[in-house]
Amino acid sequence: MYLQRRNRILRQSPAIRSMVAETVLSPNDFIVPLFIDEGKGQEFEIPSMPGYFRRSIDGTVKEVKELWGLGIKSVLLFIKCSDDLKDNTGKEAWNADGLMQRSIQAIKAAVPEIVVMTDVALDPYSSYGHDGIVENGEIVNDPTVEALVKMSLSHAQAGADWVAPSDMMDGRIGAIRKGLEENNFTKTGIMAYSAKYASCFYGPFRDALDSAPGFGDKKTYQMDYANRREAVKEALIDVEEGADIVMIKPGLPYLDIIREVKNAVDVPVSAYNISGEYAMIKAAAKMGWINEERAILETLTSFKRAGADLIATYFAKDAAKLLNR
Ligand code: PBG
Repeated sequence: MYLQRRNRILRQSPAIRSMVAETVLSPNDFIVPLFIDEGKGQEFEIPSMPGYFRRSIDGTVKEVKELWGLGIKSVLLFIKCSDDLKDNTGKEAWNADGLMQRSIQAIKAAVPEIVVMTDVALDPYSSYGHDGIVENGEIVNDPTVEALVKMSLSHAQAGADWVAPSDMMDGRIGAIRKGLEENNFTKTGIMAYSAKYASCFYGPFRDALDSAPGFGDKKTYQMDYANRREAVKEALIDVEEGADIVMIKPGLPYLDIIREVKNAVDVPVSAYNISGEYAMIKAAAKMGWINEERAILETLTSFKRAGADLIATYFAKDAAKLLNR
Protein backbone atom coordinates (compact mmCIF):
# COMPACT_ATOMS: atom_id res chain seq x y z
CA MET A 1 0.00 0.00 0.00
CA TYR A 2 1.24 3.48 -0.88
CA LEU A 3 -0.02 6.29 1.34
CA GLN A 4 0.92 9.96 1.01
CA ARG A 5 -0.24 10.79 4.54
CA ARG A 6 0.27 8.55 7.55
CA ASN A 7 -1.43 10.28 10.51
CA ARG A 8 -0.33 7.60 12.96
CA ILE A 9 3.27 8.78 12.66
CA LEU A 10 2.41 11.48 15.20
CA ARG A 11 0.99 8.92 17.65
CA GLN A 12 3.55 6.16 17.66
CA SER A 13 5.35 6.74 20.98
CA PRO A 14 4.75 8.51 24.27
CA ALA A 15 7.59 10.91 23.41
CA ILE A 16 6.18 12.08 20.09
CA ARG A 17 2.67 12.23 21.54
CA SER A 18 3.78 14.55 24.29
CA MET A 19 5.76 16.66 21.80
CA VAL A 20 2.69 17.35 19.67
CA ALA A 21 0.01 17.49 22.39
CA GLU A 22 -2.16 20.54 21.71
CA THR A 23 -3.38 20.83 25.28
CA VAL A 24 -1.20 20.61 28.38
CA LEU A 25 -2.67 20.55 31.86
CA SER A 26 -0.79 22.15 34.75
CA PRO A 27 -1.47 22.85 38.44
CA ASN A 28 -1.46 26.55 37.42
CA ASP A 29 -4.81 25.92 35.73
CA PHE A 30 -6.64 24.90 38.89
CA ILE A 31 -8.81 26.82 41.30
CA VAL A 32 -9.62 24.78 44.41
CA PRO A 33 -13.05 25.22 45.97
CA LEU A 34 -12.86 24.95 49.77
CA PHE A 35 -15.79 24.47 52.16
CA ILE A 36 -15.25 26.08 55.54
CA ASP A 37 -17.06 25.62 58.84
CA GLU A 38 -16.87 27.06 62.37
CA GLY A 39 -14.94 25.40 65.19
CA LYS A 40 -11.50 23.95 65.64
CA GLY A 41 -10.13 20.63 64.43
CA GLN A 42 -13.46 19.98 62.69
CA GLU A 43 -13.60 17.93 59.54
CA PHE A 44 -16.74 16.57 57.88
CA GLU A 45 -16.73 14.43 54.78
CA ILE A 46 -19.56 15.48 52.45
CA PRO A 47 -21.67 12.31 51.99
CA SER A 48 -22.45 13.02 48.32
CA MET A 49 -18.82 14.07 47.66
CA PRO A 50 -16.72 11.16 48.99
CA GLY A 51 -13.13 12.22 49.73
CA TYR A 52 -14.10 15.90 49.96
CA PHE A 53 -14.32 17.73 53.25
CA ARG A 54 -15.75 20.74 54.99
CA ARG A 55 -13.18 21.91 57.54
CA SER A 56 -12.77 24.50 60.27
CA ILE A 57 -10.34 27.35 59.60
CA ASP A 58 -7.29 25.62 61.14
CA GLY A 59 -7.67 22.54 58.94
CA THR A 60 -8.39 24.71 55.92
CA VAL A 61 -5.16 26.66 56.43
CA LYS A 62 -3.23 23.40 56.63
CA GLU A 63 -4.86 22.25 53.40
CA VAL A 64 -4.04 25.54 51.64
CA LYS A 65 -0.35 25.17 52.59
CA GLU A 66 -0.37 21.70 51.08
CA LEU A 67 -2.08 22.93 47.90
CA TRP A 68 0.47 25.72 47.51
CA GLY A 69 3.23 23.13 47.93
CA LEU A 70 1.75 21.15 45.04
CA GLY A 71 1.99 24.18 42.76
CA ILE A 72 -1.65 25.24 42.97
CA LYS A 73 -2.10 29.00 42.79
CA SER A 74 -5.67 29.68 43.79
CA VAL A 75 -8.49 28.75 46.15
CA LEU A 76 -12.17 29.67 46.02
CA LEU A 77 -13.83 29.94 49.41
CA PHE A 78 -17.32 28.90 50.48
CA ILE A 79 -18.57 28.93 54.05
CA LYS A 80 -21.32 27.10 55.83
CA CYS A 81 -23.35 29.66 57.74
CA SER A 82 -25.00 28.53 60.96
CA ASP A 83 -28.82 28.56 60.85
CA ASP A 84 -29.27 31.20 63.54
CA LEU A 85 -27.34 33.74 61.41
CA LYS A 86 -29.44 33.21 58.29
CA ASP A 87 -32.13 35.73 57.37
CA ASN A 88 -33.70 37.29 54.31
CA THR A 89 -31.27 40.25 54.14
CA GLY A 90 -28.12 38.10 54.08
CA LYS A 91 -26.45 40.60 56.41
CA GLU A 92 -24.11 38.01 57.93
CA ALA A 93 -22.45 38.02 54.49
CA TRP A 94 -20.80 41.38 55.23
CA ASN A 95 -20.12 40.86 58.93
CA ALA A 96 -16.49 42.00 59.26
CA ASP A 97 -15.99 39.24 61.83
CA GLY A 98 -17.92 36.57 59.91
CA LEU A 99 -16.60 33.11 59.10
CA MET A 100 -15.72 34.08 55.52
CA GLN A 101 -13.85 37.21 56.59
CA ARG A 102 -11.89 35.32 59.28
CA SER A 103 -11.09 32.56 56.79
CA ILE A 104 -9.71 35.02 54.24
CA GLN A 105 -7.52 36.65 56.88
CA ALA A 106 -6.20 33.33 58.18
CA ILE A 107 -5.37 32.01 54.72
CA LYS A 108 -3.71 35.23 53.53
CA ALA A 109 -1.68 35.33 56.77
CA ALA A 110 -0.47 31.74 56.30
CA VAL A 111 0.12 31.69 52.52
CA PRO A 112 0.20 35.34 51.37
CA GLU A 113 1.13 34.51 47.77
CA ILE A 114 -1.88 32.32 47.05
CA VAL A 115 -4.71 33.93 45.09
CA VAL A 116 -7.76 33.93 47.35
CA MET A 117 -11.12 34.10 45.62
CA THR A 118 -14.47 34.19 47.38
CA ASP A 119 -17.95 33.14 46.35
CA VAL A 120 -20.33 36.09 46.32
CA ALA A 121 -24.02 35.16 46.53
CA LEU A 122 -26.52 35.18 49.37
CA ASP A 123 -27.58 31.52 49.34
CA PRO A 124 -25.48 30.25 52.28
CA TYR A 125 -26.78 33.20 54.34
CA SER A 126 -30.38 33.19 53.13
CA SER A 127 -33.14 31.72 55.30
CA TYR A 128 -34.79 30.85 51.97
CA GLY A 129 -31.66 29.27 50.46
CA HIS A 130 -31.86 31.61 47.49
CA ASP A 131 -29.03 33.65 46.00
CA GLY A 132 -30.93 36.89 46.54
CA ILE A 133 -33.42 38.71 48.72
CA VAL A 134 -36.97 37.36 48.56
CA GLU A 135 -40.06 39.57 48.37
CA ASN A 136 -43.51 38.05 47.83
CA GLY A 137 -41.98 34.81 46.61
CA GLU A 138 -39.72 36.55 44.10
CA ILE A 139 -35.95 36.99 44.09
CA VAL A 140 -35.62 40.75 43.71
CA ASN A 141 -32.75 41.95 41.58
CA ASP A 142 -31.77 45.47 42.60
CA PRO A 143 -31.86 45.15 46.41
CA THR A 144 -29.86 41.93 46.00
CA VAL A 145 -27.21 43.74 43.95
CA GLU A 146 -26.82 46.30 46.77
CA ALA A 147 -26.28 43.44 49.22
CA LEU A 148 -23.73 41.78 46.91
CA VAL A 149 -21.75 45.02 46.71
CA LYS A 150 -21.55 45.17 50.53
CA MET A 151 -20.54 41.52 50.60
CA SER A 152 -17.81 42.02 47.99
CA LEU A 153 -16.40 45.07 49.76
CA SER A 154 -16.30 43.18 53.01
CA HIS A 155 -14.35 40.33 51.36
CA ALA A 156 -11.92 42.81 49.78
CA GLN A 157 -11.53 44.53 53.14
CA ALA A 158 -10.65 41.17 54.74
CA GLY A 159 -7.95 40.64 52.10
CA ALA A 160 -9.61 38.66 49.30
CA ASP A 161 -7.72 39.04 46.01
CA TRP A 162 -10.75 38.21 43.89
CA VAL A 163 -14.50 38.16 44.34
CA ALA A 164 -16.52 35.66 42.34
CA PRO A 165 -20.20 36.61 42.07
CA SER A 166 -22.21 33.43 41.42
CA ASP A 167 -25.69 34.85 41.87
CA MET A 168 -26.73 35.71 38.28
CA MET A 169 -28.44 39.01 39.19
CA ASP A 170 -28.41 41.63 36.43
CA GLY A 171 -25.96 44.51 36.74
CA ARG A 172 -24.02 43.12 39.67
CA ILE A 173 -20.62 43.13 38.01
CA GLY A 174 -20.86 46.83 37.17
CA ALA A 175 -22.14 47.66 40.65
CA ILE A 176 -19.38 45.65 42.36
CA ARG A 177 -16.69 47.23 40.15
CA LYS A 178 -18.01 50.70 40.99
CA GLY A 179 -18.07 49.84 44.69
CA LEU A 180 -14.49 48.56 44.57
CA GLU A 181 -13.32 51.68 42.72
CA GLU A 182 -15.09 54.06 45.09
CA ASN A 183 -13.47 52.34 48.05
CA ASN A 184 -10.03 52.27 46.51
CA PHE A 185 -9.85 48.50 46.02
CA THR A 186 -8.15 48.94 42.68
CA LYS A 187 -6.34 45.59 42.80
CA THR A 188 -9.33 43.36 43.51
CA GLY A 189 -10.27 41.10 40.61
CA ILE A 190 -13.77 40.06 39.61
CA MET A 191 -14.32 36.54 38.31
CA ALA A 192 -17.92 36.62 37.08
CA TYR A 193 -19.97 33.47 36.93
CA SER A 194 -21.32 34.84 33.67
CA ALA A 195 -23.05 31.82 32.26
CA LYS A 196 -24.36 29.88 35.19
CA TYR A 197 -27.09 27.44 34.34
CA ALA A 198 -29.93 26.18 36.54
CA SER A 199 -28.55 22.67 36.92
CA CYS A 200 -29.40 19.47 38.73
CA PHE A 201 -25.68 18.85 39.09
CA TYR A 202 -25.34 21.35 41.99
CA GLY A 203 -27.06 18.88 44.35
CA PRO A 204 -23.99 17.64 46.27
CA PHE A 205 -22.71 21.22 46.77
CA ARG A 206 -26.00 22.19 48.39
CA ASP A 207 -25.55 19.23 50.76
CA ALA A 208 -22.07 20.48 51.58
CA LEU A 209 -23.29 23.93 52.63
CA ASP A 210 -26.87 23.13 53.56
CA SER A 211 -27.93 25.74 51.00
CA ALA A 212 -30.70 24.11 48.97
CA PRO A 213 -33.51 26.51 48.07
CA GLY A 214 -36.36 26.30 50.58
CA PHE A 215 -38.99 26.92 47.91
CA GLY A 216 -39.07 26.74 44.14
CA ASP A 217 -35.90 26.60 42.06
CA LYS A 218 -33.32 29.04 40.69
CA LYS A 219 -34.66 29.23 37.15
CA THR A 220 -35.65 32.92 37.29
CA TYR A 221 -32.00 33.91 37.68
CA GLN A 222 -29.80 30.99 36.61
CA MET A 223 -29.85 30.23 32.89
CA ASP A 224 -31.94 27.76 30.93
CA TYR A 225 -29.75 24.89 29.74
CA ALA A 226 -31.46 25.05 26.35
CA ASN A 227 -29.55 28.24 25.54
CA ARG A 228 -26.18 28.93 23.97
CA ARG A 229 -26.36 32.42 22.44
CA GLU A 230 -27.54 33.77 25.77
CA ALA A 231 -24.27 32.66 27.38
CA VAL A 232 -22.29 34.82 24.97
CA LYS A 233 -24.59 37.75 25.69
CA GLU A 234 -24.10 37.34 29.45
CA ALA A 235 -20.32 37.05 29.12
CA LEU A 236 -19.98 40.10 26.87
CA ILE A 237 -22.09 42.21 29.22
CA ASP A 238 -20.02 41.10 32.23
CA VAL A 239 -16.78 42.00 30.45
CA GLU A 240 -18.22 45.40 29.57
CA GLU A 241 -19.24 45.90 33.21
CA GLY A 242 -15.72 45.12 34.41
CA ALA A 243 -15.26 41.36 34.81
CA ASP A 244 -11.59 40.29 34.67
CA ILE A 245 -12.38 36.59 34.16
CA VAL A 246 -15.66 35.09 33.01
CA MET A 247 -16.82 31.68 34.13
CA ILE A 248 -19.05 28.99 32.68
CA LYS A 249 -20.81 26.61 35.05
CA PRO A 250 -21.44 23.66 35.16
CA GLY A 251 -18.57 22.33 33.10
CA LEU A 252 -18.80 18.92 31.48
CA PRO A 253 -22.33 19.19 30.03
CA TYR A 254 -21.42 22.70 28.81
CA LEU A 255 -18.12 22.31 26.96
CA ASP A 256 -19.76 23.79 23.86
CA ILE A 257 -20.56 26.93 25.85
CA ILE A 258 -16.96 27.20 27.05
CA ARG A 259 -15.76 27.21 23.44
CA GLU A 260 -18.45 29.64 22.33
CA VAL A 261 -17.59 32.13 25.07
CA LYS A 262 -13.84 31.64 24.60
CA ASN A 263 -14.19 32.65 20.96
CA ALA A 264 -16.23 35.73 21.88
CA VAL A 265 -14.28 37.39 24.72
CA ASP A 266 -10.79 38.80 25.21
CA VAL A 267 -10.47 37.94 28.91
CA PRO A 268 -9.46 34.62 30.46
CA VAL A 269 -12.24 32.06 30.65
CA SER A 270 -12.75 29.74 33.57
CA ALA A 271 -15.07 26.79 33.97
CA TYR A 272 -16.39 25.02 37.04
CA ASN A 273 -16.16 21.24 37.17
CA ILE A 274 -18.95 21.13 39.73
CA SER A 275 -19.99 18.91 42.60
CA GLY A 276 -22.31 16.63 40.61
CA GLU A 277 -19.59 16.02 38.04
CA TYR A 278 -17.23 15.09 40.86
CA ALA A 279 -19.83 12.78 42.41
CA MET A 280 -20.43 10.95 39.12
CA ILE A 281 -16.76 10.11 38.61
CA LYS A 282 -16.34 9.11 42.26
CA ALA A 283 -19.40 6.87 42.15
CA ALA A 284 -18.43 5.13 38.92
CA ALA A 285 -14.87 4.65 40.17
CA LYS A 286 -16.12 3.20 43.45
CA MET A 287 -18.20 0.69 41.51
CA GLY A 288 -15.08 -0.25 39.57
CA TRP A 289 -16.66 0.93 36.31
CA ILE A 290 -14.02 3.51 35.35
CA ASN A 291 -10.42 4.23 36.26
CA GLU A 292 -10.58 7.30 38.52
CA GLU A 293 -7.13 8.74 37.81
CA ARG A 294 -7.52 8.49 34.07
CA ALA A 295 -11.06 9.87 34.23
CA ILE A 296 -9.80 12.90 36.17
CA LEU A 297 -7.04 13.77 33.72
CA GLU A 298 -9.18 13.16 30.65
CA THR A 299 -12.01 15.29 32.07
CA LEU A 300 -9.80 18.21 33.06
CA THR A 301 -7.94 18.13 29.75
CA SER A 302 -11.28 18.30 27.94
CA PHE A 303 -12.08 21.53 29.77
CA LYS A 304 -8.84 23.09 28.59
CA ARG A 305 -9.27 21.79 25.07
CA ALA A 306 -12.75 23.34 25.03
CA GLY A 307 -11.18 26.71 25.83
CA ALA A 308 -11.02 27.04 29.60
CA ASP A 309 -7.90 28.86 30.78
CA LEU A 310 -8.77 27.99 34.37
CA ILE A 311 -10.71 25.15 35.95
CA ALA A 312 -12.37 25.22 39.35
CA THR A 313 -12.37 21.59 40.39
CA TYR A 314 -12.62 19.35 43.45
CA PHE A 315 -10.09 17.10 41.71
CA ALA A 316 -7.38 19.78 41.75
CA LYS A 317 -5.27 18.22 44.48
CA ASP A 318 -5.44 14.71 42.99
CA ALA A 319 -4.73 16.06 39.53
CA ALA A 320 -1.78 18.16 40.72
CA LYS A 321 -0.29 15.06 42.37
CA LEU A 322 -0.75 13.06 39.18
CA LEU A 323 0.80 15.82 37.07
CA ASN A 324 3.74 16.22 39.47
CA ARG A 325 4.55 12.50 39.29
C1 PBG B 1 -23.96 29.47 45.10
C2 PBG B 1 -23.14 28.47 44.36
C3 PBG B 1 -23.52 27.19 43.95
C4 PBG B 1 -22.38 26.59 43.43
C5 PBG B 1 -21.35 27.52 43.51
N1 PBG B 1 -21.84 28.68 44.07
C6 PBG B 1 -24.80 26.47 44.08
C7 PBG B 1 -26.03 27.02 43.49
O1 PBG B 1 -26.03 27.95 42.68
O2 PBG B 1 -27.09 26.52 43.90
C8 PBG B 1 -22.30 25.17 42.92
C9 PBG B 1 -20.96 24.52 42.94
C10 PBG B 1 -20.98 23.05 42.74
O3 PBG B 1 -22.04 22.42 42.54
O4 PBG B 1 -19.89 22.47 42.80
N2 PBG B 1 -24.47 30.52 44.42
